[in-house]
Amino acid sequence: MKPTILLAASLIPTATVAMMPCSKKAFNKILPSNSTTLYAVEVPEGGTFEVASDLSYPTNATNLPALCAVAFNVTSSSSSSFTFGIFLPKQWSKRLFTAGNGGFAGGINWLSMAEGLEEGFACVSTDTGHNVSDTNDGTWAYNAPEKIKDWTGRALHSSVQQAKTIVSAYYGSDAKYSYYSGCSTGGYQGLKEVQTYPEDFDGVLVGSPAWWHSHLQTWSIQVALWNQPSDAPYHIPDSLFSVIGAEVMNQCDGADGVLDGIISAPKSCDFHPEALLCTSPAADKSECLTAPQVELLYNLYNNWYEGNNEFVFPQYSYGSEFQWSMLSSGTEESGFSEQFAKYIMYQNPEWTVANFSYQTVLDAERVCKSVGLDADNFDLTPFHHKQGKLLHYVGLADGLIPPGSSEYYHNHVVQTMAPQGVNVTDFYRLFTIPGMGHCAYTSSSSKAPWYINGASQAGSLGTGVRGVPGYQDAGHDALRALIKWVEEDVGPNKIVATKYKNDNVEDGVLQQRPLCVYPGRATFRGGDMTKPENWYCEN
Ligand SMILES: *[C@@H]1O[C@H](CO)[C@@H](O)[C@H](O)[C@H]1NC(C)=O
Ligand SMILES: *[C@@H]1O[C@H](CO)[C@@H](O)[C@H](O)[C@H]1NC(C)=O
Ligand SMILES: *[C@@H]1O[C@H](CO)[C@@H](O)[C@H](O)[C@H]1NC(C)=O
Ligand SMILES: *[C@@H]1O[C@H](CO)[C@@H](O)[C@H](O)[C@H]1NC(C)=O
Ligand SMILES: *[C@@H]1O[C@H](CO)[C@@H](O)[C@H](O)[C@H]1NC(C)=O
Ligand SMILES: *[C@@H]1O[C@H](CO)[C@@H](O)[C@H](O)[C@H]1NC(C)=O
Repeated sequence: MKPTILLAASLIPTATVAMMPCSKKAFNKILPSNSTTLYAVEVPEGGTFEVASDLSYPTNATNLPALCAVAFNVTSSSSSSFTFGIFLPKQWSKRLFTAGNGGFAGGINWLSMAEGLEEGFACVSTDTGHNVSDTNDGTWAYNAPEKIKDWTGRALHSSVQQAKTIVSAYYGSDAKYSYYSGCSTGGYQGLKEVQTYPEDFDGVLVGSPAWWHSHLQTWSIQVALWNQPSDAPYHIPDSLFSVIGAEVMNQCDGADGVLDGIISAPKSCDFHPEALLCTSPAADKSECLTAPQVELLYNLYNNWYEGNNEFVFPQYSYGSEFQWSMLSSGTEESGFSEQFAKYIMYQNPEWTVANFSYQTVLDAERVCKSVGLDADNFDLTPFHHKQGKLLHYVGLADGLIPPGSSEYYHNHVVQTMAPQGVNVTDFYRLFTIPGMGHCAYTSSSSKAPWYINGASQAGSLGTGVRGVPGYQDAGHDALRALIKWVEEDVGPNKIVATKYKNDNVEDGVLQQRPLCVYPGRATFRGGDMTKPENWYCEN
């Protein structure tokens, strides 16, 4: 696929000439002693950056503007180091863009870095202190407290600080604005930065942040365990998830007032799982559920409470069934959450999910608190005071980190800051994306518009895709909406999401629809449902 890239000249105000050569030697001169240059290579206009031995992010970014690509290695303690990469485009808009990571990866995210190039940014990403071939591999953290420090923020913060020094020397001028974009672990990294190093970024775009590790990782294990063992009468095999999803669509699609195959108000749905019951002993068990299986659904679709009615974590949302196999099917033997518990929390490879209980949640809270792992500070006053802007989005059908987790974070910021007289909407807005799963995409049968140039979304459509092809403006592109908010103080009241036919840019647009500031949602005016102008945001 060779998508068309339309460079918006107006967004690249400053054509800048490099003040130093694109060479290893030149960069080594401007770095602190804990940092060395691994390589510096020039990429010509329209060229490809060929990734060298990056296990987590092996994909070459293509269709690049002329730039200098440099990688650095930083010693962060006597037992740890991290690497980071930077793209320095010939045409620089005096902006810095930092891309986040995903899972435990663990690699310089070159492809996502390229998301900033369309706007003329210099672009940064770090491997967070380890490189792994499997984003679920947590063994790097075993007996390695310094590597955990790198992962929980030291590597990112230090990379951004050094990148600011590097662009100043390279272009002979400071970056005027600094932006961030990341989803999942990347969302966590963004919130952690906003909370811990508010000076690093002026604008932060986060998708479905894994901010509450202590509860999220234990919920993930609990969800898997609820559906185990696989010979239990209540066990729901993967093959039934789509049957459940179809019935949910049947009952919940209309809860938002429009039958369009998109569940836009999952919380308004009064779902009756009994509709899925097998109605005779002879019924085909691949198309209906037994009573114990229906009972299990009540666990999955309800918030998780423990102990003395303590809220632990929000439920799976209606519409997320197509992603359930990520958590609920296996034994979690090699899953992210089990590795998290083994190698980060307990530092004990002998720990298994068989050792799981509510005590695990309490242990997780204690460990996460002691190493500052959860990004659970709801008071964003320092970021607000420096005029920072936070744009947050989440798929309403996210089956890996339920959307309720994003809503919980947002609502707690409001509960913390509104009583101090702060109008949170002035600097922090959450957008929900009906039908979207974790960070990108929808179920294969869904026509829901989901693409807003969120973190890593462009890379999922193609290695040379930048921005929202055909719609290079702040009304359709979350990154551009954030730039406008930061630089012109005009915050987005809606962002129009795009669904390309077959999720292929070349095939053209299937439909578009506005996303609204939470807790609002798009309401249909009538007319052609596929046209964004026939919808408005209702709060
Ligand atoms: C990246 O480019 C290099 C050099 O052309 C090539 O050898 C490698 O296979 C490419 N990697 C991927 C993942 O396409
Ligand atoms: C980075 O430097 C550390 C020493 O601090 C070294 O152990 C490590 O191998 C280096 N990494 C790379 C990729 O060169
Ligand atoms: C690297 O050195 C600089 C300058 O001494 C220091 O400010 C910075 O904290 C160090 N970075 C790390 C990751 O140790
Ligand atoms: C990945 O880590 C290994 C050591 O674990 C190191 O030798 C290698 O250079 C690293 N690769 C990169 C690209 O940092
Ligand atoms: C896990 O549970 C088993 C069986 O109860 C027990 O023998 C073992 O010590 C536990 N391991 C850990 C790491 O808690
Ligand atoms: C908060 O600010 C938004 C715009 O930033 C405005 O629409 C809204 O009315 C304000 N809310 C309150 C309670 O003042």
